[in-house]
Amino acid sequence: MPSTLSVDQSRLAEELADLERAGADVLQWDVMDGMYVPNLTVGWDVIADCRPHTSVPFEAHLMIEDPGRYVEDFARAGNERLIVHAEACMHLHRVIQQIRGAGLQAGVALNPATPIEAAQHVLEDIDTLLIMTVNPGFGGQSFIHTMLPKIRQAAAMIGERRLPVRIEVDGGISAETIASAYDAGARKFVAGTAVAKHPKGKAAAIAELRKVIEHA
Ligand code: DX5
Repeated sequence: MPSTLSVDQSRLAEELADLERAGADVLQWDVMDGMYVPNLTVGWDVIADCRPHTSVPFEAHLMIEDPGRYVEDFARAGNERLIVHAEACMHLHRVIQQIRGAGLQAGVALNPATPIEAAQHVLEDIDTLLIMTVNPGFGGQSFIHTMLPKIRQAAAMIGERRLPVRIEVDGGISAETIASAYDAGARKFVAGTAVAKHPKGKAAAIAELRKVIEHA
């Protein structure tokens, strides 16, 4: 799924419509508060304003401190899933219950240095485990290959417990890295730069990524 982080922010509505035409199945909003990560992006009002401009489902990756404060706001904005960082929640299980209570799907994100055990006691309550393959805060970073064993470990934990949790990866996903992430067990892929900045355009970028994993 494309991240909105890397498109032209002065033309967000057009860019989202462009991503829909290019074949995006989900659009991920990278929400950053300048505290949890050293960058600042959009809030729920921007997401709400963009909602009518595309029919593609939205999910919000909340790279913010204490995300439980804003679950209702991001739910009202039109997201179908909220992904929160385990490291940013004093009471992760409660935040997940809040998200599900608001009628949304819940996901948990783990930074590269955070062990998957940080999410092991909430795997029954989420549908997505987001394993960061860069340190959060910026697009255009390089894929951290040492995350591959972590993805495998998460896939094994989920498989042993026969849970319907899908592993999502985010950061440095490109035609060069997506196959190794897929082989390790990832089944959802967030791509910002590889889609928004592809020389042949967004549709070619999405088609190329899909083709690589079809043959993985
Ligand atoms: C990092 C962001 C990025 C973004 C994708 O905080 O979460 O990973 O979604 O950026 P690229 O695909 O450019 O690495």
